Amino acid sequence: MSVTLIRDGSVGVILIDNPPVNAASHAVRTGLMEALAEANDDPDVQAIVLACAGRTFVAGADVKEFGQPPRAPLLPEVVNAIEASPKPVVAAVHGTALGGGFELALGAHARIASADAQFGLPEVKLGIIPGAGGTQRLPRLIGVPAAMEIAASGRRLSAAEAVKLAVVERIATGDLVDDAKTLARELIGQPVRRTGELAVPAFDVDAADKQLAAIEKKARGQVSPGRAARMVLRAGSTSLQEGLAEERAAFRELVSSEQSVALRHVFAAERQAAKVPGIEGVEPRPVRIVGVVGAGLMGAGIAVSFADTGFSVVVVERDMAALEAGQARIRDIYQRMLKSGRIGEAAMTERLSRLSYFDERKALAACDLVIEAVFDDLQVKQELFASLSGIVRPDAILATNTSYLDPDVIAGVVTGPERLIGLHFFSPANVMRLVEVVRTAKLAPDVLATGLAVAKKLGKLGVVSGVCEGFIGNRIFTAYRRECDFMLEDGALPQDIDAALEGYGFPMGPYAVNDMAGLDISWARRKRNAATRDPSERYVVIADRLCEAGRFGRKTGKGYYTYESGEKAVDPKVTALIEAASREAGIERRSFSASEIVERVMTGIVAEGRKILAEGIVLRGSDIDLVLINGYGYPAWRGGPMFQAGVE
Ligand code: 3HC
Repeated sequence: MSVTLIRDGSVGVILIDNPPVNAASHAVRTGLMEALAEANDDPDVQAIVLACAGRTFVAGADVKEFGQPPRAPLLPEVVNAIEASPKPVVAAVHGTALGGGFELALGAHARIASADAQFGLPEVKLGIIPGAGGTQRLPRLIGVPAAMEIAASGRRLSAAEAVKLAVVERIATGDLVDDAKTLARELIGQPVRRTGELAVPAFDVDAADKQLAAIEKKARGQVSPGRAARMVLRAGSTSLQEGLAEERAAFRELVSSEQSVALRHVFAAERQAAKVPGIEGVEPRPVRIVGVVGAGLMGAGIAVSFADTGFSVVVVERDMAALEAGQARIRDIYQRMLKSGRIGEAAMTERLSRLSYFDERKALAACDLVIEAVFDDLQVKQELFASLSGIVRPDAILATNTSYLDPDVIAGVVTGPERLIGLHFFSPANVMRLVEVVRTAKLAPDVLATGLAVAKKLGKLGVVSGVCEGFIGNRIFTAYRRECDFMLEDGALPQDIDAALEGYGFPMGPYAVNDMAGLDISWARRKRNAATRDPSERYVVIADRLCEAGRFGRKTGKGYYTYESGEKAVDPKVTALIEAASREAGIERRSFSASEIVERVMTGIVAEGRKILAEGIVLRGSDIDLVLINGYGYPAWRGGPMFQAGVE
């Protein structure tokens, strides 16, 4: 039985038990209707608590039912029935009340949450909008502007924020269900407060229109955020009944849209990525204290990411000057978070207190995991890891954040090479969600499991990669860039290529990205590799020429574009330099349409993707999709290049 009614004096507790996340499946919906009717028919029951067993409140509609014919009772009917109940219903929320789960709670007459509960309407991330009243009830409860932001972003609210917004009445101080029963008893005899009957608070329509325009712009082609925001806005100008009917129609339309199918592929891919053959049932090692060696841009971001998620972090630099610079960098990241309102003063102080700083490696002795983010040079890394082997416990995990070096060669100097893993973060590491978890040749299964578990604890997405030059992401990105550079030499200009890919949904084209990241690092790598480059391979000199002219990107005020006026602008000198390079290569330049540019890039990505699949570097096509989406700005709503090409 996935739903039961448990009587406790005057209170009936409707308990949902549908592991793992209490999704509102057909059985749950049916059970809810029956339990609700039973509670309402029982004269001894005077108030009702809606609660869930297991790790979470209802985490949403059952996504496995999407794409199947809908089966009554539908979720909106269940929410309406809860709201219509003449006896007060209190939702007792723990874990994550998401999507349909949040909508069920909104149907209740009061809400109580455990201190760590979270609420959200993540439907937009599945390419749909809330379909069980979320867009109509939430604005009635918290106002249109706040509801628009929540429904369009899909972000989660903490219990504290939910209290502030008056989404929940109370935070439980003792046992959640006991506290919910107390609240339910207090409500007996009082008129029930139905969210759907509340008037939508007055709001500034012009400001809301501007908010909508900003949401649509930010969505860059993804339809659902704008549709969700529009539906919330609609609550301000229509009745609940009409609003609910319109919401349902939009929900049904979007469920069968290409974008939703693609985003559901991404959802499934993310769950699949954690399933790695060879580590099923393997216990990860406990990780509490983490060492980060090197506090440059990458190391500082990594340290912040760990401190943000509750780990104790030991930061080590080679000398006091570097250490102080690293500490300043970390403080600066937190100051920016504070300024932007992402964290408060107290959270900043707490997170900073988790970090300690040392200029000696022996400070790493107590660490469960040590990650290096030092200069990407083999000798430097080998020297470091050889010395770490003598400092840390024999069971401590060692991780390299190298982008291009061979971690197996690094593992060669480690006592116990089975504990050396690659954890390849993307910059800025405290923001970017992707971590490539690199499976070295001798890696112990529990170390791999730990790498994935740590990525998850950091709130990141770990994708397992085998060892190859550039791993999954940079290897594919190299192929992508190669294709772009060929087109540059064949007749396209950076602004043509950037515009085409931005039109496809990337937040920034490759040349604008390159200017931001700096051109010098890859130039140094190309120079290092020049001697071993296959002379029969096509080589485009444009990037080298830009670097030779001191154009290293934004930091020098010029790269593929010029930034002399502060804004990105096309530079005729770059056009001339590119045209000269084509002439030199004996190429007659021709024009490229946006669709041809996109097609060429995608073909290049998929071809490289097929290669790394065949080589066993990556477990499945969908892992490549995740890497491109989370590390390189590929638009999630297109599902990924491999999904588009039908490669599994
Ligand atoms: N339906 C069906 N199965 C679901 C599900 C859902 N809504 N949400 C999660 N699951 C499954 C996962 O596929 C996974 O299955 P598996 O073990 O077979 O791979 C299992 O539950 C555990 O999920 P996670 O690995 O993601 O567990 P976490 O603990 O990391 O995260 C979570 C839990 C935060 C609830 C996360 O799963 C999540 O974000 N789920 C999706 C929530 C969501 O999008 N809800 C909205 C659905 S649409 C909707 O409600 C429409 C409505 O408006 C009508």
